[in-house]
Amino acid sequence: MSATPRPIPVILDVDTGVDDALAILFALAHPGLDVLGISCVAGNASLDRVVENTLRILDVAGAGDVPVAAGAHRPLIEPARAASHVHGEGGLGSLVLPATKRRAVPLNSVELMRQLIEASPEPVTLVALAPQTNLALLLRLYPGLAGNIERIVFMGGSTSVGNATAVAEFNVWHDPEAAAIVLDSGVPTYMYGLDVFNRVAVDEATAEALLVGESPLGRVVGALLTNRVLAGSDGDTEYSGLIGDAGAVCALVDPEALRTRLLPLRVQLSGYGRGQTLADLRRNPGEDIVHGLAEEWQSVEVALDVDVPRVTGLFLGTLGLA
Ligand code: BDR
Ligand code: CA
Repeated sequence: MSATPRPIPVILDVDTGVDDALAILFALAHPGLDVLGISCVAGNASLDRVVENTLRILDVAGAGDVPVAAGAHRPLIEPARAASHVHGEGGLGSLVLPATKRRAVPLNSVELMRQLIEASPEPVTLVALAPQTNLALLLRLYPGLAGNIERIVFMGGSTSVGNATAVAEFNVWHDPEAAAIVLDSGVPTYMYGLDVFNRVAVDEATAEALLVGESPLGRVVGALLTNRVLAGSDGDTEYSGLIGDAGAVCALVDPEALRTRLLPLRVQLSGYGRGQTLADLRRNPGEDIVHGLAEEWQSVEVALDVDVPRVTGLFLGTLGLA
């Protein structure tokens, strides 16, 4: 009889955030993951809101004593710019959750992550679902921890279209220097970018049924999935049903549901392309490589295609909502 594999020890770094909330609920429910702690960063909403939303979502999940810490309240260089047109002023769209008795631990995120990584008997996987400010600070302060980090799975970037700008995805655009530091850290990285993020959606009828169903968890998930986002510049909103950041956590537990390629990747730091993840998709070397002119690139496993029904099925099934 084969032994059941041990759950993967993970730390989530979040900016809760409608889809971060979905990701937290999924990660806590999946038996293949052991959520050691949650680190919060400013992004979709202010740091205070992110921490409060995260603590309230732990109540929804009926979670045990998962430590939550507050990290950076703004990116390394630029001011914080919340995505309130997507996540609402409070960060959870129109969803208002009851107040919680939970409190953040009296440590900043970097210290919490350091302690958890040092204490873990197995290398820890960092799941970055937000601007990577906290991770960059961690890796700059404690580069020696890289040896006990299995890899960094991050939602961010794109090899095609952007969302924050025409070419840059929000998490990388919000703190491009942090993303560049993380890619340069020597820790293996897996990019779950907009190429796949924009495709993994639950259909509207299913989400609406959850919203008015019997299950309290289903009602919260339904409310998060039916959060309507700004479409175009005329103020209209539309249903997306994206599971968003939760898809990156699904990729961690069911890697076969995605097609990936190991690609040379870099973060653009200047000009209109600031925050863009530029991927070298060429199959054959070009003149820059042949003539030794190539600039420095990092090697990243990039998700390029996804089996959407398989991932939405995994997501809803794990939450007991299929
Ligand atoms: C990313 O930005 C945020 O709006 C989402 O939570 C996700 O992490 C998508 O660009
Ligand atoms: Ca996020």
